[in-house]
Amino acid sequence: MPKSYSIVVLPGDGIGPDVINEARQTVDAIGNKAGFNIEWIEEAAGGASIDKYGHPLTDEVLDKCKSAHAVLLGAVGGEKWDHHTGEMRPESGLLKLRKGLGAFANLRPVMVPDALSEASPLRAEAVRGTDLLVVRELTGGIYFGRPAGREGSGPEERAYNTMVYTAAEVDRVSRVAFEWARKRSGRVTSVDKANVLVVSQLWRDVISRVHTEDYADISLNHMYVDNAAMQLVLNPGQFDVIVTGNLFGDILSDAAATLGGSLGLLPSASVGGPVGIFEPVHGSAPDIAGKDIANPVGAILSASMMLVELDEGDSAAAIRSGVELALEDGARTADLYRDGFERVSTSGMGDLVRRHALKALK
Ligand code: IPM
Ligand code: MN
Repeated sequence: MPKSYSIVVLPGDGIGPDVINEARQTVDAIGNKAGFNIEWIEEAAGGASIDKYGHPLTDEVLDKCKSAHAVLLGAVGGEKWDHHTGEMRPESGLLKLRKGLGAFANLRPVMVPDALSEASPLRAEAVRGTDLLVVRELTGGIYFGRPAGREGSGPEERAYNTMVYTAAEVDRVSRVAFEWARKRSGRVTSVDKANVLVVSQLWRDVISRVHTEDYADISLNHMYVDNAAMQLVLNPGQFDVIVTGNLFGDILSDAAATLGGSLGLLPSASVGGPVGIFEPVHGSAPDIAGKDIANPVGAILSASMMLVELDEGDSAAAIRSGVELALEDGARTADLYRDGFERVSTSGMGDLVRRHALKALK
């Protein structure tokens, strides 16, 4: 009997199904050769789930996720559901999933493969060699803080969210960042707004304490979020691991994504709970959905991060090589296409990655 993993797959909305289809085929092809089998449990999330079940994430689907080995997710949201508010928004389904699975640490690696340093809107020499990891806190901060609400009317109408962190929440996410730094170049930059926000002062104090107590071998610096946004585009090479709160991490990871020329390239893993969630950083891009033009690389690399978690490291590495080799060959989806390269579709890119990945798998 080959090893078998049960994976809940939530393609979601917009280009989610387009890119997840490629990720799934890639894992199946590699598994076939490497000797493991995936039992895919396909379910609805986000807008697709509103349409199917009347809620962006049902308790039944969440329960299925809780008993799987991992969750592979595409993207959620779109204009069709934009009139929904509160917990009926597609995005709320995603937040419920993250919270429900206790996935408090969102890992977003940003690498600029040599083949893509020319594709960056920044100077090639400024981005070449970029290799950083954003560790974004994912189940706290202003995304979940209470009170939150909207009340009253006219000029007196008011709306508010609360940015709140407990010491325990900062402690545990900082340890994830320090542990990754140990496996990488040994540097952590903690990003906050401690010159203004008292929640950031706690954040900074806790990170500093954890550092002194348990990670004195790692070099730690603190940076205000406004400066961090600027430094990311001026000199991304200075960063190894960036650890930050939910909202700042959301914003900075999109900014970092531009370094390689496209948000479509970036994968992520949300870990810390019993079951991890693996999803590309990009959104649902409804305008290009179903046209076979979306970039599947972010989703394929997310599946590769999933295989690392499942202890299928060789297969994960083969997929990463597959992506690099396809890009080196000059294959470019529409988001990255320029003169002199080969324009490929979503499925065309998937095919090329699979072909190279299978060759790379020893
Ligand atoms: C992301 C997305 C989500 C977020 C949205 C869709 C809720 O932007 O994963 O970065 O803000 O976390
Ligand atoms: Mn985002």
